[in-house]
Amino acid sequence: MLAFVSFSSILVGVIADTSKYSRCQAPTADPLDGCPPNTLLVSSTGREADFDTIQGAIDSMDNTTNYTILVLPGNYIEQLNVTRSAPLTILGQTESPNRQADNAVTVYWASANSNGRYTDNAYTSVLTVAPNLNASLTGSGPSGFPVPADTPFGCVDFRVYNIDFRNVYADEGVGPSLAVSISRANAGFYYSGISSYQDTVYVGKLGNAYFYYSHIGGQTDFFYGFGTAWVQSSWVELRGCGGGIIAWKGTNTTFANKYGAYISDSTVQAANNSVASSIIGKCFLGRPWNAQHRSVYLNTYLDASIAPQGYEKWTSNPLTDNYNNYTVMAEYKGFGPGFNLTGRIAGNVTLEFDAAQTQKYMTPRDVFMAPDGSQPYITWIDPNAYIWH
Ligand SMILES: *[C@@H]1O[C@H](CO)[C@@H](O)[C@H](O)[C@H]1NC(C)=O
Ligand SMILES: *[C@@H]1O[C@H](CO)[C@@H](O)[C@H](O)[C@H]1NC(C)=O
Ligand SMILES: *[C@@H]1O[C@H](CO)[C@@H](O)[C@H](O)[C@H]1NC(C)=O
Ligand SMILES: *[C@@H]1O[C@H](CO)[C@@H](O)[C@H](O)[C@H]1NC(C)=O
Ligand SMILES: *[C@@H]1O[C@H](CO)[C@@H](O)[C@H](O)[C@H]1NC(C)=O
Ligand SMILES: *[C@@H]1O[C@H](CO)[C@@H](O)[C@H](O)[C@H]1NC(C)=O
Ligand SMILES: *[C@@H]1O[C@H](CO)[C@@H](O)[C@H](O)[C@H]1NC(C)=O
Ligand SMILES: *[C@@H]1O[C@H](CO)[C@@H](O)[C@H](O)[C@H]1NC(C)=O
Ligand SMILES: *[C@@H]1O[C@H](CO)[C@@H](O)[C@H](O)[C@H]1NC(C)=O
Repeated sequence: MLAFVSFSSILVGVIADTSKYSRCQAPTADPLDGCPPNTLLVSSTGREADFDTIQGAIDSMDNTTNYTILVLPGNYIEQLNVTRSAPLTILGQTESPNRQADNAVTVYWASANSNGRYTDNAYTSVLTVAPNLNASLTGSGPSGFPVPADTPFGCVDFRVYNIDFRNVYADEGVGPSLAVSISRANAGFYYSGISSYQDTVYVGKLGNAYFYYSHIGGQTDFFYGFGTAWVQSSWVELRGCGGGIIAWKGTNTTFANKYGAYISDSTVQAANNSVASSIIGKCFLGRPWNAQHRSVYLNTYLDASIAPQGYEKWTSNPLTDNYNNYTVMAEYKGFGPGFNLTGRIAGNVTLEFDAAQTQKYMTPRDVFMAPDGSQPYITWIDPNAYIWH
């Protein structure tokens, strides 16, 4: 019998003070009580609200004002596109802003790029934050879609609190099925849920994404991209195994950047007992989408689903024929039943970092960069939801 350890008991760190928004999020007679100026109200039932879709509220905005959207409980079946550059915060109404599991707002879409249905994975996403369609394209080849250098930057400060994004196309990985897609933009997800089965989180070129006390569920390569992602104090939910958890692609155009996926103080754990018992030792931490893959698991609990060797090579992928000094598939202070040091050493794929090697990837300040190359660049991260190591 497997012991199923509760996710919340494993997380480290402190629960953030989110009081800046909790008054707005609390259900009150006038839902907009306690909300910042320029807050738009959305309700799927149209009750008391100006908009019955979230995209309707987004489309009503000018390009320069800072906006907040308060979304009342319900299911929203729509694709969201945020192209504006000015700040936007979307709040789910809730009495428990510090508990993702209690979220009452879900945005659903059902789409996968299976059998070449679309020309690009971008078309499948539930939420896209990017200045235009081309900026969000994955493309193919060693460096992906050649996003033109003169493409403007998109949203400089996009935040979501207490909303779940679910791409429900299928109950297994049948093709890329994005839940969130962030390119040439900065996006923070707080106490939010993000799920599909394959290619769930896409962080594209010059994309910066921060996930805090959130729940990200998937099966196959469910974090992928070219940009920079930091996952803090979250549940990485294994809904099965396929490929790796992370498939990152670096390009030499972004090489100066600290692109990569960083999973910190988090919990990698099977969805439930029946999944857990069927995937023991089978899931890989990641695999190199090209030879410049970079990802690091920091201080993260790994359940028994993780394969003894940790990461895997991607032998069928011609882009990874030449492993070089730029392939970083690493962990620092891994623990839990899925951390098998003997297996890691025997496998010779996973780098076991020491403190000195981890230094340049230790905190979000170390990895997020502005488009002009300046660093640190974390003004778009909620300062109340930041772990200062
Ligand atoms: C916002 O900017 C976009 C892109 O520059 C433009 O197409 C659109 O008309 C602008 N919208 C408003 C309301 O000014
Ligand atoms: C709009 O948001 C930006 C970035 O967060 C901030 O610097 C600016 O002060 C805000 N403007 C207003 C009027 O609140
Ligand atoms: C969002 O963008 C995708 C890709 O361009 C498009 O297929 C979809 O219709 C857009 N959705 C909305 C709500 O604008
Ligand atoms: C998007 O990229 C395609 C392919 O490179 C190009 O033909 C098209 O003009 C671009 N669209 C825009 C709006 O820049
Ligand atoms: C367990 O999780 C899997 C993957 O998400 C799901 O398909 C299945 O329905 C879940 N089973 C139970 C008993 O909740
Ligand atoms: C960038 O990468 C491409 C594809 O791997 C390679 O052909 C090219 O020589 C590289 N350029 C530089 C400047 O390293
Ligand atoms: C890899 O690193 C080693 C040791 O730092 C160095 O000698 C070697 O030249 C590097 N190789 C490449 C391809 O950069
Ligand atoms: C750890 O890895 C070694 C070497 O691959 C293997 O023999 C052993 O069974 C593994 N232990 C567990 C608990 O999986
Ligand atoms: C480990 O892999 C490296 C290349 O990634 C190779 O040079 C080295 O010989 C391997 N070591 C063992 C013991 O297999």
